[in-house]
Amino acid sequence: MLTLGIESSCDDTAVAVLQNHNHLLSNIVSSQDDIHSKYGGIVPELASRKHLEAIQPMVDEALKRADKKLSDIDLIAVTQGPGLIGSLLVGFSFAKAISYVKKIPYIGVDHMAGHLLSVFLEENIPDFPYIALIVSGGTSSIFLCNSFTEFTLLGRTRDDAAGEAFDKVSKLLELGYPGGPIVSQYGSKGNPAEYIFPRAWLENDSLDFSFSGLKTAVLQQCKLLGRIDRASAENLCASFQEAVVDVLVTKTIRAAQQNNISTIVLGGGVSANARLRQVMADNCTSQSLQLYVPHPSFCTDNAAMIALAGYYKFTHTQSALPLEVDVFSRSVLG
Ligand code: KG4
Repeated sequence: MLTLGIESSCDDTAVAVLQNHNHLLSNIVSSQDDIHSKYGGIVPELASRKHLEAIQPMVDEALKRADKKLSDIDLIAVTQGPGLIGSLLVGFSFAKAISYVKKIPYIGVDHMAGHLLSVFLEENIPDFPYIALIVSGGTSSIFLCNSFTEFTLLGRTRDDAAGEAFDKVSKLLELGYPGGPIVSQYGSKGNPAEYIFPRAWLENDSLDFSFSGLKTAVLQQCKLLGRIDRASAENLCASFQEAVVDVLVTKTIRAAQQNNISTIVLGGGVSANARLRQVMADNCTSQSLQLYVPHPSFCTDNAAMIALAGYYKFTHTQSALPLEVDVFSRSVLG
């Protein structure tokens, strides 16, 4: 079975061709980072315009790299939400159009399900059940994954996503966009104990997150410092990163313990963060938990994970979507 995956939920146009559940024939991403970087964040109107320009050539290129034609495709899996409505509509309408014209079934995928399952694009795969920490620019959530189609939300951010906090701190320090990789790079050279930033633990045993207070604390510290030289910026980044990583790791391990689960999986763009990977790995080792972290190209937005999640949803339900359905801005997984 050949699945064409299409992802356009935010600022990356991505297309993949997946054979059955594990043979990735092509997987390409067209990034819009250079367009949005001058604004210090994503401009939704520009994002959807760029998706419109990119979608047809990207589908052609993905099919070419897979050495397949559109008529070879058995299923179209497309991100239905969550995300920017204007961006989602480009990929979703495109998928509907080719589904209608070529009589190929199409299925809508929750972007979160893609992240939760992206580890299955790797050779080394976990057994169910597992706890997944999904951290990106749009989400910070902890899920219990029981099968390829059963996911239970255990905790989520009540305000900013972790990636959003990285991006905002980067903007504050005028380091550039996207902020995560730059803040991480600066942080690797700084002292994580220079500033003790707040950790929002919330109620006892809560698995929810909150990063807006942390961002404000960094802003206050910047005001106190006045002029921020390179060394101060490195220390600010290191101390901020340490606070984020501390909360993410502690709550993920807590979720595993509360649910008696021995496997943890990471996903989303922030899981590319070296400090998060290191601290999570150290904690998993000391708690005798197994940790699985997909390759960074499967952690950031990609269409391979959408094709994979769509394949499992379709084979499980055996039903395609009718043409009348619409995109959604909030995850249906909780
Ligand atoms: O999953 P993703 O590619 O897109 C969505 O947000 O859906 O994640 C992008 C986010 C951005 O906020 C970016 O700053 C963050 O992931 N990010 C990182 C790192 N690499 C990307 N955050 C921290 N450390 C990194 N190394």
